[in-house]
Amino acid sequence: MSKKFFAGSTVLVTGASSGIGEAFARNLANRGANLILSARSEDKLARLADELREEYRISVHVFPVDLILPEAPQQLLVNIKASGLSVDVLVNNAGFGKWAHFLGESLDTYDQMLSLNIDALVKLTYLFLPDMLARGKGGVINVASTAAFQPAPYIAVYSASKAFVLSFTEALAGEYRERGVRILALCPGYTDTNFNSIANVNAEGVRFASPEAVAEAGLNAFVQGKSYLVHGGQNYLTSLLPRILSRARVIKIVANMFKSKVTPWPA
Ligand SMILES: NC(=O)c1ccc[n+]([C@@H]2O[C@H](COP(=O)([O-])OP(=O)(O)OC[C@H]3O[C@@H](n4cnc5c(N)ncnc54)[C@H](OP(=O)(O)O)[C@@H]3O)[C@@H](O)[C@H]2O)c1
Repeated sequence: MSKKFFAGSTVLVTGASSGIGEAFARNLANRGANLILSARSEDKLARLADELREEYRISVHVFPVDLILPEAPQQLLVNIKASGLSVDVLVNNAGFGKWAHFLGESLDTYDQMLSLNIDALVKLTYLFLPDMLARGKGGVINVASTAAFQPAPYIAVYSASKAFVLSFTEALAGEYRERGVRILALCPGYTDTNFNSIANVNAEGVRFASPEAVAEAGLNAFVQGKSYLVHGGQNYLTSLLPRILSRARVIKIVANMFKSKVTPWPA
């Protein structure tokens, strides 16, 4: 796999302060990319930027932003352009989920989840894609999930948001395939990050992938020009189940599997 592909290009990674986003940043730095790191935690981003500049002699810029705010994607574009930077590759990675009975979480939480997982991702893609098309290179990696492949009881809103990300991303890949840009939906399964404590998942018996392995597979798939990648052989096989079994059967299986992962509701 060509490690030189990203050398000298500028990559914007959202959600770069931890987990898969941080692993993307470290991997890209090692491949010689210059970085624009974004998330809410300015201190964590600044520490990571210092470390990567020192170790890899690359340029790293930090733009702290809360992507739940409706104007944040546009503001991020304005701030990046005002700094004289342009983005070759956008990694839309920031996102969160909640494992819960649908009615066990607040509407505010769902509002925020949809704003971050869907609205911000669509807006950032819309804002940064035109420059990539004008240059006829670069592209977008959108982080979806294995939860995108079937309706998932007990993470209903999250899985639907990731189904959107997968469908949207593959559609764009079909639309812009001939224009020199790459567009990839990366679909990780359970990965060992802060996601799981934020999501309140009962992780008993779960086998986690490392965020480093997920980022490496995602970047390699992007270089290969794939439009989607499910990380992990077992996850790939599971993603095929909705093509083999009836939808009702798949939903029943997932409901049985996931019921034990959430707090009973009402308590
Ligand atoms: N871990 C898994 O099992 C798993 C599986 C499938 C898919 N995914 C997807 O992978 C992506 C990365 O998640 P992760 O597992 O690496 O979890 P994570 O460690 O919790 O990272 C999430 C990142 O998103 C940022 N973020 C959260 N809210 C934000 C906001 N309002 N505005 C801007 N940035 C925000 C966080 O930084 P700040 O808190 O500093 O803002 C953090 O950098 C997500 O899209 C997630 O849905 C994860």
